[in-house]
Amino acid sequence: MKTLIIYTSQTGFTKKYAEWISERMNGDLLDLKEAQKKSTDYYNDYEAICYGGWAMAGTIVKVKWFLDKAVNWKDKKLAVYCVGGSPNDNPDVDIFLQNALNDEQRKYIRAFYCQGGFNYENMKTPSKLAMKMFVSVLKNKKNATEKEKFMAEKMSSSYDISDKKYIEPIVCYLEGKEYEEEN
Ligand SMILES: Cc1cc2nc3c(=O)[nH]c(=O)nc-3n(C[C@H](O)[C@H](O)[C@H](O)COP(=O)(O)O)c2cc1C
Repeated sequence: MKTLIIYTSQTGFTKKYAEWISERMNGDLLDLKEAQKKSTDYYNDYEAICYGGWAMAGTIVKVKWFLDKAVNWKDKKLAVYCVGGSPNDNPDVDIFLQNALNDEQRKYIRAFYCQGGFNYENMKTPSKLAMKMFVSVLKNKKNATEKEKFMAEKMSSSYDISDKKYIEPIVCYLEGKEYEEEN
């Protein structure tokens, strides 16, 4: 199946997942900036197109570009994956995924989440400042829950919880197969 993976990544996690998916599916890989330069015809031959963006304050970065394009790609297998600092089993992830697509988009696009991490070395200054503020608000919050305290501590330095296994449901979906979770 001729597959294309388009991604946008600030610190490298979303790019790494895009590379894992493209290696696994023998697909083509394109940074969003390159994808935006391509003509409409460029996408015609692809049977499956997957977009990856990182999570920023509950949204998927630059996903609008893909969603606008996808309206004309309904004959293809379409997936969106989001990479964030939260672990996959965080209940917020389900809410996040529910909000990622509207009812109409859900008919022809499937959304996935892959846990990434934080990489302060590669992060741009505005993002670093935003995170510093967020962590400080959480740390100083009165009556913070144990979970919030733990998160504030964890997010104050870099960590990597990415894993190749999280591409499995995405690959299965793009290949038109059922994903069976290992227990
Ligand atoms: C300003 C900002 C907001 C973020 N918001 C979220 C969020 O809402 N949910 C989440 O899970 N991660 C959030 N993150 C963490 C990033 O999504 C995470 O570090 C991700 O792995 C970055 O991907 P990248 O390496 O491809 O840039 C945020 C990070 C920054 C800098």
